[in-house]
Amino acid sequence: MPDFIVTPWEVSGEIDYEQLIKEFGIEPIDEKLLFYIKEITKEIHPFLTRKIFFAHRDFKWILDEYRKGNPFYLYTGRGPSGNVHLGHVMPWIFTKWIQDKFNVELWFQLTDDEKFLFNQSLSYEEAYNYSYDNALDIIALGFDPKKTFIFSDIDLAGTLYRSALKIAKKITYSTIKATFGLDNSANVGQIFYTSIQTVPAIIKSLIEGKNIPCLIPHAVDQDPHFRLSRDVLPKLGYFKPASIQCIFLPSLQQGGKMSASIENTAIFTTDNPEEVKKKVNTAFTGGQANAKLQRELGGNPSICSVFKYHFMLFTLDDNELKTIESRCIAGDLLCGECKNNLIQKINKFLKVHQEKREKAKDILDQYLIKEKIDLKKIISDKLKKV
Ligand code: TYM
Repeated sequence: MPDFIVTPWEVSGEIDYEQLIKEFGIEPIDEKLLFYIKEITKEIHPFLTRKIFFAHRDFKWILDEYRKGNPFYLYTGRGPSGNVHLGHVMPWIFTKWIQDKFNVELWFQLTDDEKFLFNQSLSYEEAYNYSYDNALDIIALGFDPKKTFIFSDIDLAGTLYRSALKIAKKITYSTIKATFGLDNSANVGQIFYTSIQTVPAIIKSLIEGKNIPCLIPHAVDQDPHFRLSRDVLPKLGYFKPASIQCIFLPSLQQGGKMSASIENTAIFTTDNPEEVKKKVNTAFTGGQANAKLQRELGGNPSICSVFKYHFMLFTLDDNELKTIESRCIAGDLLCGECKNNLIQKINKFLKVHQEKREKAKDILDQYLIKEKIDLKKIISDKLKKV
């Protein structure tokens, strides 16, 4: 038994990503693929060189098609069960980079239905409202409004349901149990749900009436959904969706990922500077017991959550990162200074993000799409006809 768990609904333990590659059957992003990406994009995002985006399915095919003049569209999503944290933002920053570099559309799914079904303490209304709240974080990251379509599942239910039915008919209960570990206590909505998460992988094909390649950026926890999508969609005449997958921004404490359900492990996009300071100052580090020992023995960045935050999000300049690492190992950089540096960087990012988040309230309509069904009007129109 592995001593870690990665499913769309549970991530815990020290994750061995090499093992996950084997278990999930995903492909590592190798130097050859990096070279190919760079040929097209001219520069390479540090998330790729640092292997934060570390695995994929059919990404090379996406690039081949793009080169042939057959562009793809992007699809990603968020399960709105609470505030957005920095871990969620990571794949979205990368998604925006891809949108900019390839000038492609993004379809962004807010799975309020999923969160309602899977989270026993979340009401339908709360999940739906979080969709709109979380959309502000997405918009704040600067996606192109002309090429970005954000939707709540509840709001686009009619369209999604029509295709989800066809998908659901091709998936057995035993496949769901084996893929997601759901058991007999699962509610029937949970069993059906993955069919809804598959639909945006064909939404452009549905609209255009012809097959369009789809690329899904996400952290590796979502792979089981799209493994199923890749199995089912060709049976319905569609392409398999491709994916590009990242590792998890870790918890600020020891082990595990940044998780919204364990408060002090996560920094939320709505945190104020004092909250950030408090959380980073109590983070797990690779430092020694006291400053004297640290100066003598040096620290251990490879186990340090503060260093991981520098590495994954806040010190993307390679030389600067190298300096932090070597000064730490040499005992020259103490944890206090390193934490302060990180606190400043996070607060700088959040200040700008929170301003943009506020402004996003005025431009929500430029991004959101929904079906407006007014049953009262439909009935009165019908009655006028008879
Ligand atoms: P959700 O809301 O759990 O997560 C949103 C996105 O963030 C990724 N993620 C992380 N990435 C890095 N570090 C972390 N600590 C971390 N925690 C979460 C997730 O992998 C995801 O990419 N069911 C989905 C919503 C969804 C979706 C999609 C996601 C619907 N369609 C298509 C990706 C692609 C969910 O609940 O995501």
